Amino acid sequence: MAKQILVTGGTGYIGSHTVVELQERGFDVVIVDNLSNSQIEVLDNIEKITGIRPAFEQFDLSERDLTDAFFKKYSDIAAIIHFAAFKAVGESVQKPLEYYRNNMGSLMNLLECMNKYQVPHMVFSSSCTVYGQPDVLPVTEQTPRKEAESPYGNTKAICEDIMRDYCKANEAINCIALRYFNPIGAHPTALIGELPVGVPNNLVPFITQTAAGLRDELSIFGDDYDTEDGTAIRDYINVVDLAKAHVVAIDRMLNGKSKDNYEYFNVGTGSGYSVMQLVKAFIKVTGVNLNYKIVDRRAGDIEKIWADTTYGNNELGWKAEKTLEETLASAWAWEKNVRGLK
Ligand code: UFG
Repeated sequence: MAKQILVTGGTGYIGSHTVVELQERGFDVVIVDNLSNSQIEVLDNIEKITGIRPAFEQFDLSERDLTDAFFKKYSDIAAIIHFAAFKAVGESVQKPLEYYRNNMGSLMNLLECMNKYQVPHMVFSSSCTVYGQPDVLPVTEQTPRKEAESPYGNTKAICEDIMRDYCKANEAINCIALRYFNPIGAHPTALIGELPVGVPNNLVPFITQTAAGLRDELSIFGDDYDTEDGTAIRDYINVVDLAKAHVVAIDRMLNGKSKDNYEYFNVGTGSGYSVMQLVKAFIKVTGVNLNYKIVDRRAGDIEKIWADTTYGNNELGWKAEKTLEETLASAWAWEKNVRGLK
């Protein structure tokens, strides 16, 4: 019988792509999502891609009783991939308690249920934000973490610590934290992708919305950084590549390959691109003109970061495969599909 995987936040951006990869690998998926930042129609589009509609339960995982009742009902779950969390850096500064309560509360409820209902494995969405501005680049898993720049970033660091401590106390529990760099792009079918509510905070949705005519121009935050063209550098990873890393992490745990019952990996491409390089690549790949202007730096932004992926590549046997060009083209195809453009 197919193994059942619980995907929390499975109608969200990275979650929905991971559901597709899991189903294509023959896993049976149940999604839990409160739809606070995603739409139920995502299920239709997952079904269009894979031919299978995942089971779905709508509730808030920070509610302990509801989480417990869920595990009573679904007694065959083999592993969890936990995406569900608040993720807006700026909003977390305004509403820190909401962020701590939601992001840590839901993780703790899940960990408790893992023990109670004997679900041993969890993959957790962490972030390269835990490294802050590293002193040495690229960052390896050994690079020291730095104090978080925002309550959002702090929830990721604290959640990692909670898992580490819980795994130490419970030998039967096995967790892997994946530290994502910057996920971008969309599924090659253009049926699922990133759909931010309101004005996008992140670079690529802002670019595609500007290209689609929803925004007048892109603001590039700062061109006086210590980089070749003065704009900030990130490691942009294709969301499908990232989704596949989760499937590989699940396999590692289900096959008993983990070296420790708490592990963490960088998930990036190993290459950094500046904002300006990304903008120019987008224009070149899509042939669409993009209005942009240089403005002041954005508060809290780091100058540059990219991953050393050697450890993850070797241990997981996984590597990001898609090119930046292919990924930007997929982001544009998705935006056009959402807006009904040709
Ligand atoms: N940028 C612009 N203009 C925009 C938006 C972004 O110039 O309109 C620049 C930013 O200043 C930054 C780069 O594009 O230099 C990438 O910005 P994003 O907002 O897309 O991504 P960040 O690296 O700031 O943040 C992302 C995630 C966070 C996570 C962080 C580190 O959104 O959740 O990576 O892991 F915390």
